[in-house]
Amino acid sequence: MLDIGRDFLKDNIRRQVDFSQTEQSRGIAEPPWQKPCAAGDKKIALAQPKDWKNIPELSLEKAIARRRSHRKFTNDALSLDELSFLLWATQGLRPTASTGKNFRTVPSAGCRHALETYVAVFRVTELEKAIYRYLPLDHALVEAASPPGLQGHLAEATFGQRFCGDGAATFVWTAIPARMEWRYAEASYKVIALDAGHACQNLYLACGNIGAGACAVAAYDQERMDALLGVDGSDEFTIYLAAAGKVQGLPKEVE
Ligand SMILES: Cc1cc2nc3c(=O)[nH]c(=O)nc-3n(C[C@H](O)[C@H](O)[C@H](O)COP(=O)(O)O)c2cc1C
Repeated sequence: MLDIGRDFLKDNIRRQVDFSQTEQSRGIAEPPWQKPCAAGDKKIALAQPKDWKNIPELSLEKAIARRRSHRKFTNDALSLDELSFLLWATQGLRPTASTGKNFRTVPSAGCRHALETYVAVFRVTELEKAIYRYLPLDHALVEAASPPGLQGHLAEATFGQRFCGDGAATFVWTAIPARMEWRYAEASYKVIALDAGHACQNLYLACGNIGAGACAVAAYDQERMDALLGVDGSDEFTIYLAAAGKVQGLPKEVE
């Protein structure tokens, strides 16, 4: 067992994959860059970077110095502009000179971006309490689920980590491995996990701009989390979470 785990962290798999036989090499159309919406899904537009209000500037040096895990949150809500900023920071599209490109604010192996972002919203102005899915290509949200008792469900699905239901919103990243497998076949899995780290790190740093904090969470009940999001657990499944919300003043040593 340990060997399987350790091998996952290595890159020996790359020598074993026949890259001439990947779906991409065989001319198969690539999976969509963003999970399609269902008929009748209502898109909720988010604020664009040029339009959002009250997102103070913060030097990168300060953002890095402030970064720490927060598990205690105030009762303050995030504004929709603040949530827009956090979603943009974690998966937003990066403008490029050429159209039709899928470059984002975070790097991704082969630019395959196999992650989907869900946000369990508890306190965000203008949004009902529910789980939403972020659409990076539209910079918009769609509602994914609205189970009663959402905060409690989140705590239960993270083995009783109550802070996962205490913040203003909890981010949940799923993987759609087919997007990465199209190019990298069995060499896809480690890089998907690495990509999730980039998204979460940007969330930590962006929280610093808006008096918020985050805590990464990798301990969760796979089946419960997938059921909560309404994903099938096979072609799409949860891989990482982070609770986020406003926090009390920063420790003295930071400023
Ligand atoms: C991959 C990963 C998984 C984590 N999972 C959890 C978790 O399930 N629960 C939790 O309370 N903290 C979790 N954390 C937060 C760590 O405990 C935290 O980063 C660590 O204690 C160092 O503290 P700092 O982030 O303030 O530097 C996780 C962090 C990472 C990077």
